[in-house]
This record gives sequence, C-alpha cells and structure tokens, in this order.
Amino acid sequence: MEKFNIIATTFFGLEEVLAEEIKALGSTDVKTLTRAVSFSGDNEMLYKANYWLRTALKILVPIKTFSAFNDKEFYEEAYKIQWQDYMAVTDTFAVDCVASGPIFTHSKYLALKCKDAIADYFRQKRGRRPDVDVEYPDLRINVHVYNSQVTVSLDSTGIPMSKRGYKTRQTEAPVNEVLAAGILTLTKTDFSTPFVDPMCGSGTFPIEACLMQMNIAPGSFRHFALEKCRNFDSQLWGRIKKEAKELRKTAPENTIYGFDKDVMALDIATQNAANAGVDKFINFDRKDFFNTPENGFGLFMVMNPPYGERLENQEDMNEFYKQIGDVLKSCYSGSKAWILSGNLTALKNIGLHPSKKIKLFNGPLECRLECFEMYEGSKKKKYEN
Ligand SMILES: C[S@@+](CC[C@H](N)C(=O)[O-])C[C@H]1O[C@@H](n2cnc3c(N)ncnc32)[C@H](O)[C@@H]1O
Repeated sequence: MEKFNIIATTFFGLEEVLAEEIKALGSTDVKTLTRAVSFSGDNEMLYKANYWLRTALKILVPIKTFSAFNDKEFYEEAYKIQWQDYMAVTDTFAVDCVASGPIFTHSKYLALKCKDAIADYFRQKRGRRPDVDVEYPDLRINVHVYNSQVTVSLDSTGIPMSKRGYKTRQTEAPVNEVLAAGILTLTKTDFSTPFVDPMCGSGTFPIEACLMQMNIAPGSFRHFALEKCRNFDSQLWGRIKKEAKELRKTAPENTIYGFDKDVMALDIATQNAANAGVDKFINFDRKDFFNTPENGFGLFMVMNPPYGERLENQEDMNEFYKQIGDVLKSCYSGSKAWILSGNLTALKNIGLHPSKKIKLFNGPLECRLECFEMYEGSKKKKYEN
C-alpha cells in the first residue's frame, strides 16, 4: 500500500511517549515535534494509529504546506488545492484551525477563509458549493498555522482521542484519558504490583490502567472521522477491529483499586468502567485516604488530589497535601506514589523528597507529576480492602 506522511498530535510532555507508541505500531521515519509526532505509513497504519494510540489526540494527513503572509495569500493557496480529490460536492465538510505567531491572530477567521476557498473552488468547477456540517461532516479539514507556515491536513480522527467514549459522566477536575494514559506510561507503571488510585474521581487512571494491562484498544469504544471518508476501506477497518479483539487479554495482570471518599464519584467511576467493559476487573471502594489502615505495602500509586479548584484557601490546601505526605510516610512504606497536581505550592508541603518531577499540562493548567518513594525494610504486608 502507498505510504504517506502522517502527523499525530498530543499534549506537551507526551511527545516521546507517543513516538514510542508509534514505533511499536511498526511505523518508520518517526520524528518528535512540539506537541506532535510525524511518521510515515499506509492506510493500515493510519487506521491503526486511530484505533491503538493511547497518547495521541488526532491523526492528521497533511495534503499541502505553504507560506502565507496575509489573508489573501492564504485564501489563494487554499483555493489551489485539488479539493475534488478529497471530497464530492455532495459531501459535507468542516474546517478547524489553530493559528499561532504574530502574522495570523484569528484562528476562526482563517477557518472561514479556508471554507470560502473550498466553496469557491466547487462553485467554479461544479456550479454549486458543498454544505458545511460542523458536527458530523463527511470530511474534516485541519489547518495548522505557525507564523507564515501553513499545513492543511485531512483530520482522520474527528472528536479528539482524549474522548474515548466510555466516560459518560465525570467528577470535578478530571484528567482526560490521553493525559492519564500518558502519565501511566511516563511513570512506567509497574503492572507486576497492585495499582491504586486512592482519589480516583471519575475513575480515569484505574480504567486506563486496566485497558493497558488487558491490551484493550483505546479506540474500540467510539467512531472516527475516517469512517465517513469517501475512500473508507471498511474491510481493512473490520480486520483491524477483529485482530484487536483477538489481542485482548482475559484479565489484568494485577489487582487494580480505585478509591474515593465521595460516593457519587464512585458511582460515576463504576459506570464509566462498565461502559468500557472493565468494571468487574477494578476494585472500586469508598475509602477516605486519611483513614487508610496501615497496610499499603508494595503498591504502585497514581493520584490526582484536589488542586483547590473551588478556590479553597491555600493554607487549607497546604495542610491537605501535608496530611497526604504524612499518610504516605506512615501507611505506605515500600510503595511508590506518583502525584499529579496543578497546585504547585501545595505540592511542596508533601514533606517527602520527590525522586522525579515532570512538567505537564491538564488543559491550560500547568501541573507537576512528582514521584515519592517510601522505602522501608519491614516485613511485607498484603493490601487488604
Ligand atoms: C481532582 S479529583 C480526581 C479526578 C480523577 N483523577 C478523574 O480523572 O476523574 C480529586 C478526587 O479526590 C477525592 N478526594 C478528596 N479528598 C479525599 C480523601 N480524603 N480520600 C479519598 N478521596 C478524596 C475527591 O472526592 C475527588 O473525586
């Protein structure tokens, strides 16, 4: 099959993780960019990238790159694209644009200019223009502008891959699925020890950990824009889905726990896990982290405590994080805890020296992911519910 250039976009800090995922899928020419990775592949690789990549947001296929220094030049270059190669006049379309740099400051205006170019192109060639459908278009076009450099791509994903489709409800300040999967990879989550998220909210970390342990494709819960493309290969797509089912393991490698003190959060987490078909593999339970019995030996913990989103007093948040540190020290010797927080001041109050710090963003909010290792030589105790 013919090979072409593909771009997978991601979040700041996850580029290397994504590049490794793409290499594991068998692609060549993998290059790390800022918040993206470029690689080459055929249709099969394009489909697999959508279905299998846990840390990609969108899979784009560039069709033209050019320089433009004003709106007129942008419109003229966009108009020159042979649009009939990608869509029929009866197809609907949508254009998304992300522009940065000093030349083009209005992404929405550029998206509108691209729409005009496509409409005018078809009016000229066919005597009528295709309709726009922002929700479910047949063809979704992505325009990326950095200074004068413009890349026009076909968006094979549609709704970003951070929306896997299993999270029908969520608690306050959740992490999205791509960031959670990225964190589980960055932390080198050890599947040979029990995994626990003691403040699991809507359950994103335990669910993503379970999907990874069971080798369940993250794309198996949703549809993608590529399925509406005019040259969609349904046989190939069907084969990729069938092969993915065969690769699924019957159970996770180790026990996965998701705790929260809030009964509503647990209800939401359990529902989300059921949507992903993994509720019976995750032990959700109502527990207050500060009343945990002293038996958390040898766990791999990933947690995302409240940041103070509801404008809590900073003093209270500092005290809250200090108490987390105290519990880690007294109850979790021999365990490793990774904490993600957007409250960088509060995080300093944990009172343990982090062995690793990673800068990430949860949406627009700058966060730190810090690792705390509680060394202990005492006898090994099993974690009990
Ligand atoms: C930022 S949210 C976690 C979001 C989660 N990672 C997700 O993706 O939905 C913080 C969670 O900590 C829980 N929490 C706060 N204090 C707690 C405590 N003492 N013990 C257990 N859970 C607690 C809250 O109920 C909330 O669900």
